[in-house]
Amino acid sequence: MFKAFFEALFRSWLSIVGSVLTTVSAGVFLVLLVVAELNPGFGGGYGGIVAFLFLPPFFVLGLVLIPLGLARARRRKEPARAPVIDFNLPRTRALATVVGALTVVNVGVVGTATYKGVSTMESPEFCGGACHSVMHPEYAAWQRGPHSKVACTRCHVGSGAEWFVRGKATGVRQLVSVARGTFERPIPTPVENLRPANETCEGCHARDRIMRDRLKVFDRFAEDEGNTWKKTVLLNKTKAVHWHLDGAVRFRSDRRRLVVAEVARPLPDGGVRTWRNEALDGGAALEVFRTMDCTDCHNRPAHAYQRPKDEVDRALASGALDRTLPFVRREGLRLLLKDWPSWDAARAGIATELKAFYAAGYAATVTPGRAEAAATTLFELYQRNVFPEMKVGWKTYPDFRDHEDDSGCFRCHSSDLVSADGAKIPTRCEVCHVTLAEEEEQPEILDALSGE
Ligand code: HEC
Ligand code: HEC
Ligand code: HEC
Ligand code: HEC
Ligand code: HEC
Repeated sequence: MFKAFFEALFRSWLSIVGSVLTTVSAGVFLVLLVVAELNPGFGGGYGGIVAFLFLPPFFVLGLVLIPLGLARARRRKEPARAPVIDFNLPRTRALATVVGALTVVNVGVVGTATYKGVSTMESPEFCGGACHSVMHPEYAAWQRGPHSKVACTRCHVGSGAEWFVRGKATGVRQLVSVARGTFERPIPTPVENLRPANETCEGCHARDRIMRDRLKVFDRFAEDEGNTWKKTVLLNKTKAVHWHLDGAVRFRSDRRRLVVAEVARPLPDGGVRTWRNEALDGGAALEVFRTMDCTDCHNRPAHAYQRPKDEVDRALASGALDRTLPFVRREGLRLLLKDWPSWDAARAGIATELKAFYAAGYAATVTPGRAEAAATTLFELYQRNVFPEMKVGWKTYPDFRDHEDDSGCFRCHSSDLVSADGAKIPTRCEVCHVTLAEEEEQPEILDALSGE
C-alpha cells in the first residue's frame, strides 16, 4: 500500500520537496505544540509564533507541491491524457486509502494551527513580546498595572466580528511597518482604533459599582535633608465625577486630546450648552470629535507610566528607597529627570552621580554601599517608565486622571473655555474633591479616623 504511494511520490522532485516540507514542518509543529502546551509562554512568545504562524504556510505549501509534482510526472509519462481512476486496481485503492488517511491528519494539523495561530495573535505575549522593542513600553507598563490579567485584545480588539476584522487589519499593517522598521517612535496613541470604552470597560466595571466616593491618602516627601514625610488626604467625589458618563459631553480637540477647543453638553430641556476657547477656534489640527467615555479620563488604565515624583514617593513610602539617606528625594528626582541617552548610560550615570554626591557631603555617614543600593532602586524606577529606544520619556504619554500640569480634568475645567453667556465649566476644588489635608506631616483628619 505505502509502496505504491511512495513510488508515485518519488517520480517527481516537486512532490519529493513537497513531502519533505510537509513532513518536517508537521513534525516540528507537533513537537512545539506539545512543548507549548506543557509550558505556556515558552520562548518568550517566539515559540508560539514559530509554531503557529511560521510553520503552517510551509506545511500547506508542501501539501500543494505533492499533487502538482504527481500531475507533472504523469503528464511526462502519458501526455495529453486525463488520469484514469480505476478503483478495481488494488494499487489505486491503496493510494486512495493512504491519501484519505493523510488528508484527515492534514485537516487536523491545519485546523489546530489556525486555531492556535489566532489565539497566539490574541495573547499578550504575542502583542507585547513578539514586537519586543516596539511595544515593550506598553507591555512593561501593562504587566505592572491593575489590568495585568486582562488580555491586550480585550481593550484593543474586543469581541464581535467587526472589531475583530478591524483589529486584524491594523495588526497586519503594524506588523509590516515593524518588519520594515518604519513604525513611529513613540507609537502614537490609537484614539480612533480603540473600541468604545463603554463596551470594553463596562463589561467588568458595572456603572453602579463605580458610583461611590472614596477617601484617598497620598504619601508625599519634601525635598529637605530629612525627606520629611507628608500626607495629602482627599475625599474624591467619584459619584459626581462619573456624571460625565450620563452627561453625553462632546468635545473637539487635537489627536492627542491634549488641547480642547470646544465642549458641548445636552441640557435636560433639549437645548445644548457649548463652551469655546476663542483663542484656539479654527485651529486646523483640532479636528477630533469625541463623546466622552471612560478613556477620556482613565486613558492609561493598562499602560500607566508613572510620574517621577510619584515613583520616588512610593518607593520612599514602601521602604524600597532608603528614607534615611539625606536629600535622597531631591537628588533621586533630579537624576531620574536627566536626559540619559540609553538605559546603560542611566544605570551608570545615576550610580556615579549619587555616589559622588554622598562622597562629597556625607562621607562619614553614608557608605558607598548604601548609595549604590539607592542608585539601583532609582534605576529600576527609571527603567519602568523611560524607554530611550522607543523615544518614550516621562512625559510622552500624559495621564488624564487628575490635573497634573493643568492637563487631565483642567483641559476642560479651565477658565479658557467660555459659554455664550459667559459661564465656565466649574473649577472650584470642591466640585471634584474635598481636600482634607494637603502635604501635612500629621493630618488631624487621619488622627480622627484612627481614633487617636
Ligand atoms: C484595560 C484596557 C487595555 C488593555 C488590557 C491593554 N491596553 Fe493598550 N491601550 C489602552 C488604551 C485606553 C490606550 C490609549 C491610551 C491613551 O489614549 O492615552 C492604549 C494604548 C496602547 C498603545 C498605543 C501607545 C500608547 O501607549 O498610547 C499600544 C501600543 C498598546 N496600547 C499596546 C497594548 C499591549 C501590547 C497590551 C497587552 C500587553 C495592551 N495594550 C493592553 C487600553 C488597554
Ligand atoms: C476583564 C475585566 C476588565 C476590563 C475589560 C477592564 N477592567 Fe478595569 N479593572 C479590572 C479589575 C479586576 C481591576 C482591579 C485590579 C486591582 O484591584 O488590582 C480593575 C481596576 C481598574 C481601575 C483602578 C480602580 C482603583 O481601585 O483604583 C480603573 C480606573 C479601571 N480598572 C478602569 C478601567 C477602564 C477605563 C477600562 C476600559 C478601558 C477597564 N478598566 C477595563 C478589570 C477590568
Ligand atoms: C470625567 C472623568 C472620568 C470618566 C469619564 C470616568 N471616570 Fe472613573 N474615575 C474618575 C475619577 C476622578 C475617579 C476617582 C479617582 C480614584 O478613585 O482613583 C474615578 C474612579 C474610578 C474607579 C475606582 C472607583 C472605585 O470605587 O473603585 C473605577 C473602577 C473607575 N473610575 C472606572 C471607570 C469606568 C469603567 C468608566 C467608564 C464607564 C469611568 N470610570 C469613567 C474619573 C472618570
Ligand atoms: C472634555 C471635557 C471635560 C473633561 C476632560 C472633564 N470634564 Fe468634568 N465636566 C465637563 C462639563 C461640560 C461639565 C458640565 C458643566 C456644566 O454643565 O456646568 C462637567 C462637570 C463636572 C462635574 C460636576 C458634575 C455635577 O455634579 O454637576 C464634576 C464633578 C466633574 N466635571 C469632574 C471632572 C473630573 C474629576 C475630571 C478629570 C478626571 C473632568 N471632570 C474632566 C467637561 C469635562
Ligand atoms: C475638575 C475636577 C477637579 C478640580 C476642579 C480640582 N481637582 Fe484636584 N484633583 C482632581 C482629581 C481627579 C485628582 C486625582 C485624585 C486621585 O488620584 O484620587 C486630584 C488631585 C489633587 C491633589 C492630590 C495631588 C497629589 O497627587 O498629591 C491635590 C493636592 C489637588 N487635587 C488639589 C486641588 C486644588 C487645590 C484644587 C482647586 C484649585 C483642585 N485640586 C481642583 C480633580 C479636581
